[in-house]
Amino acid sequence: MPVQTGKTPGALRSNPYGKEIRMTDDEFEQLVRFIYEKTGIEFKSSKKYLLENRLSPRLVELGCTSYHDYLLLLKYDSNNEFQHFTSAITINETSFLRNMPQLRVFVDEVLPRVVKQAQDRAVRKVRLWSAGCSSGEEPYSLALLIAEKHPRLFNQKAVEIVATDIDEEILAKAREGVYSEFSLRNLSPIQKNNHFTREGRYFRITPKIKSIVRFTRLNLHDSARMRLMHDVDIIFFRNVMIYFGTEARKQILANMYDSLNPGGYLFLGHSESLHGLTKAFKLVNFGKIIVYQKQIRV
Ligand SMILES: C[S@@+](CC[C@H](N)C(=O)[O-])C[C@H]1O[C@@H](n2cnc3c(N)ncnc32)[C@H](O)[C@@H]1O
Repeated sequence: MPVQTGKTPGALRSNPYGKEIRMTDDEFEQLVRFIYEKTGIEFKSSKKYLLENRLSPRLVELGCTSYHDYLLLLKYDSNNEFQHFTSAITINETSFLRNMPQLRVFVDEVLPRVVKQAQDRAVRKVRLWSAGCSSGEEPYSLALLIAEKHPRLFNQKAVEIVATDIDEEILAKAREGVYSEFSLRNLSPIQKNNHFTREGRYFRITPKIKSIVRFTRLNLHDSARMRLMHDVDIIFFRNVMIYFGTEARKQILANMYDSLNPGGYLFLGHSESLHGLTKAFKLVNFGKIIVYQKQIRV
């Protein structure tokens, strides 16, 4: 059985305590401000119901009778409540081999280029970063594609993948590496067979694929911690930016730019772009696929 996150669709719809705590407009505004300051995630006013639905069970569990009380608890948290909170408000939707045309560009075109760039700098390892990795499908997809297409690089451990997320619960699931058939829907039978072992209705990623992926908690809206990410050759920042407000997007992209080595690449989700956010990156077209690059000479 995969690690349960408490965010299964059933848990979202029903409150196990059978009690709903209503949120006032004032409480909603205060919570939205708090969430934005701490995480960069933006909640529009139409999302009040969603927030209520997600947080209400936690308030009941803690014995809080209002969101005002809960906010006080969060602000003066001595008990890691912030981690429960982020887990409740984030959206973790993902799957293996999500956006395959883009992943093909990564493995066939971009990875060989950054390996060459690293060799030119006399560096033996390239570093990939899956930022907002959710339950691990994205970084494990990168790892399995490298194992398939560049076995020598893989076996020499010439590539490492750092996978980060704000949500500690979803990271526990990622580290466990056990998935339902639905998560694997884009994989061929051969890929399922080669990279997973079957456990009843579930599939466990092999230790080999796991061996080049390292998970760690990182809030992308925390600039001080972001500065610790450096010497990165390729960043996957896909389907995360859509949840952030404009200022948070700009700040995160500026930090990511600094994290990249010159000539490094940035992949965004297919509905995302840098338009109106930053002009720092060069746009590179691979057929219909757009990738962003930090200039080699800056
Ligand atoms: C929709 S998932 C995207 C997963 C994967 N990148 C993909 O494209 O399939 C978005 C992830 O971003 C994470 N996230 C949201 N805000 C974050 C923040 N401030 N710092 C780090 N991760 C964050 C969420 O926890 C969630 O797991």
